[in-house]
Amino acid sequence: MKYFIDTFGCQMNVRDSGEMADALREAGYEPAEAPGEADLILVNTCTVRQKAAHKGVSAVGRYVALKKENPKLVVGACGCYAQEAGERLLQEVRGVDIVAGPDAKGQIASLVEERRGTKKPVVATELHGSGGGASRDSPAPTSRRRTPAGPTALVTIMQGCDNYCSFCVVPYVRGPEVSRPPDEIVAEVRDLAAMGVREVTLLGQNVNSYGAGTGADFAALLDLVCAVSGIARVRFTTSHPKDLTERLAERFATLPALMPQIHLPVQSGSDTVLARMNRKHTRGDYLDKVTMLRRHRPGIAVTTDIIVGFPGETAGDFAATISLVREVVFDGAFSFKYSPRPGTAASRLDDDVPPDEKSRRLSVLQEILDRMAFERSRALVGAAVPVLVEGPARDPGTVFGRTPCNRVVNFVGNGHDIGAILEVDVNEALAHSLLGMPSPPR
Ligand code: 5AD
Ligand code: SF4
Repeated sequence: MKYFIDTFGCQMNVRDSGEMADALREAGYEPAEAPGEADLILVNTCTVRQKAAHKGVSAVGRYVALKKENPKLVVGACGCYAQEAGERLLQEVRGVDIVAGPDAKGQIASLVEERRGTKKPVVATELHGSGGGASRDSPAPTSRRRTPAGPTALVTIMQGCDNYCSFCVVPYVRGPEVSRPPDEIVAEVRDLAAMGVREVTLLGQNVNSYGAGTGADFAALLDLVCAVSGIARVRFTTSHPKDLTERLAERFATLPALMPQIHLPVQSGSDTVLARMNRKHTRGDYLDKVTMLRRHRPGIAVTTDIIVGFPGETAGDFAATISLVREVVFDGAFSFKYSPRPGTAASRLDDDVPPDEKSRRLSVLQEILDRMAFERSRALVGAAVPVLVEGPARDPGTVFGRTPCNRVVNFVGNGHDIGAILEVDVNEALAHSLLGMPSPPR
């Protein structure tokens, strides 16, 4: 039996797909090279924005159509959109066999068996903390990765989210925030290091509040993870500015393995919009946090997420976002047009910024952000940077890896270099990556 997993959305979904793959391998499945060869196709969906949700649903529809040639094929929709839609997905995509939320990832093999046995579609959307089997005290477990795909790995340190930003659907589809115990995380990182992993990215919706209520905290967890032998690089995502402490900022100065890079979503530069977004930080708070980070780690790369066209966003609010962007000077950013998500507080507000105006604001913003990102890349031209080689790049005889500040570099190399940290001379900046040559030995 062969499985194929198509993953949409964030790194948390990438990690969850990895756990599903492990579970399927344990149940005797093998990975398929292409969907056409598979007996089981899973789509790990996202629902953070309307567009993301649509992409996942259309992929499920496309895979269901493959059943014409292969009637035994089982198609499952997993992850966040599946959680949100539940039974409704059976109507939205006729012929889908399994609808499973993020907390059902460990049971995926038995859900497939159930589907094959009963010949009826299976829906598994029980969420931890919702009064079902799993609760805040006994969340759906995160299982240790058993087959990392290369020298870098994603490690989930917490599930869910308690922040309730008014635009965001995540707390509704991923349940309340629950932290994984530190010893469990460190044990997984040790296992990964033994399997050749050199870099880990710690994942959570808001890693800065890791351990809240348990006595553990994120800065202390970083100390433990950075001390694991064999792990040369540690990153984390995502951070909420309101919970970013000085204790954590100091780690960027004291832990050499902690890479000088942070993704710190701001969402808007206007205090009135931030208040309506229920972000619990102001523009001033955000600027102060960036200053604090740069004081502890000069040159730290700061990236962000920004939403334009939030309900009630005026031209003045948008101008405040632009001015914040210019003040911070981001290394990179993801920016989006607001779209209402079901069940969220903002979905009850009037979505009053016209679509054309949202598009206009987004392109104005993106032009500035792109130029900034390019300038930050250009500043690396002529420098020699240590790059962890992750895998082959598109052109034959080339490989790619990342700089400490998380920029992708393509350069001449081969399979033997994968997993090594090489000194690379950067000689050209492209829009979203760098080109280089291995530095001559000194
Ligand atoms: N509309 C637009 N963007 C959104 N995001 C989250 N919810 C919405 C929404 N309803 C963006 C935020 C978040 C990123 C992952 O997606 O910027 O940080
Ligand atoms: Fe990730 Fe959020 Fe999308 Fe779920 S809804 S895949 S948590 S971005």
